[in-house]
Amino acid sequence: MLLTDDQKSIQQLARDFAVSEVQPVAKALEQDHSILCQLWKKMADLGFTGIQFPEAYGGLDSDSVSYLLVIEELAKASASVAVTLSVHTTVGILPIFNFGNEAQKQKYLPPLISGEKIAAFGLTEPNAGSDAGSGLTKAEPANGHYVLNGSKIFITNAHIADIFVTTARTNKEKADAKGLSAFILEKGMPGFKVEEADEKLGIQGSDWGTLVFEDVQVAKEHLLGDPEQGFKIFMNSLDAGRISIGAMALGIAEACLADSLKYAKERKQFGQPIANFQAIQFKLADMAVEIEAARHLVYHAARLKDAGRLFSKEASMAKLWASETAMRAANQAVQIFGGYGYTKDFPVERYFRDAKSTELVEGTSQIQRLVIARHLL
Ligand code: CAA
Repeated sequence: MLLTDDQKSIQQLARDFAVSEVQPVAKALEQDHSILCQLWKKMADLGFTGIQFPEAYGGLDSDSVSYLLVIEELAKASASVAVTLSVHTTVGILPIFNFGNEAQKQKYLPPLISGEKIAAFGLTEPNAGSDAGSGLTKAEPANGHYVLNGSKIFITNAHIADIFVTTARTNKEKADAKGLSAFILEKGMPGFKVEEADEKLGIQGSDWGTLVFEDVQVAKEHLLGDPEQGFKIFMNSLDAGRISIGAMALGIAEACLADSLKYAKERKQFGQPIANFQAIQFKLADMAVEIEAARHLVYHAARLKDAGRLFSKEASMAKLWASETAMRAANQAVQIFGGYGYTKDFPVERYFRDAKSTELVEGTSQIQRLVIARHLL
């Protein structure tokens, strides 16, 4: 992939950080979330928490490709670290950056971009997953403010975040996406609680939780964008988020290939390295081709975004292909490692669990196909 000198520099910075700081703790991170907070501070110092945002708000003013290179490098070492940063910088910050008024931007963007504060994104509800427009959380107007009641589940960064963008129904006459508005909430607002979520299969080093709203009084200044435009604000933000999850999947797939190549050259069976066998070589070749295609799709979508072109379809294509590539690559990596791949002594079992998440978060593979098909039709 042809990169500019600036992009190569940030890629190298992220690679050095991932190899020296993230990889050694990637396994321990699954049990000890305090490590994530230590890594977060270091990533903030390196500017990773605001790469693609203007210097005026404290960002590095780089392009989307530079940002995605960081996500990819982090994901090679730990998908949990990558998803934490991805949710913060795309679906967490972007709704405020793209749709906030100047007062909201001045208040929220500098501490989020510097990494002093962390962002989360509240869309999914117990009854509203793929059908994200059917959420029941409501925000009723009362004496110049809104009163929020409801809950949001599977929220990445829930316990560690300070700022939350969330949807709530402000028009109960409209039961679909059209009745939703977007709000900016802050940790500690009376009636706003974060509860423990179920244990998850993969990305175990990342945080998630349930947001509970019980008569949370929210001033009108916290409304994000125009009333009843919340769904579109969230869909717009998810377009960018999906490229980022694509880059995360790409990183996982690359880690699968790198570990498989190394192991296949070292592991001897029938008197020779298993890399000598065509059965293994064909797996490696297929992984490499699929990864190359994923890389092109991810960076193509990012370049369209940077050029100010429509990129919704390409974002879904990138996420769909990269996430399914990661899942296939992880499956093959475990197969190449054989019984050892099924143990926790090697990271391929973690790649396998982490890869699955990329087929689910920010829209399942089926939703990506639906979005692509709607564009085609
Ligand atoms: N950008 C801007 N507007 C958009 C849009 C986009 N990408 N996609 C749709 N819209 C607009 C439509 O134009 C339409 O506007 P009008 O009413 O003016 O015509 C409106 O939004 C409603 O659109 P649809 O009729 O297409 O809505 P729908 O109900 O059929 O849903 C969907 C479409 C694609 C299925 C959508 O619900 C969807 O993406 N579902 C998946 C949700 C998802 O990705 N959830 C992940 C949550 S985040 C997460 O994973 C957790 C985490 O922390 C990482």
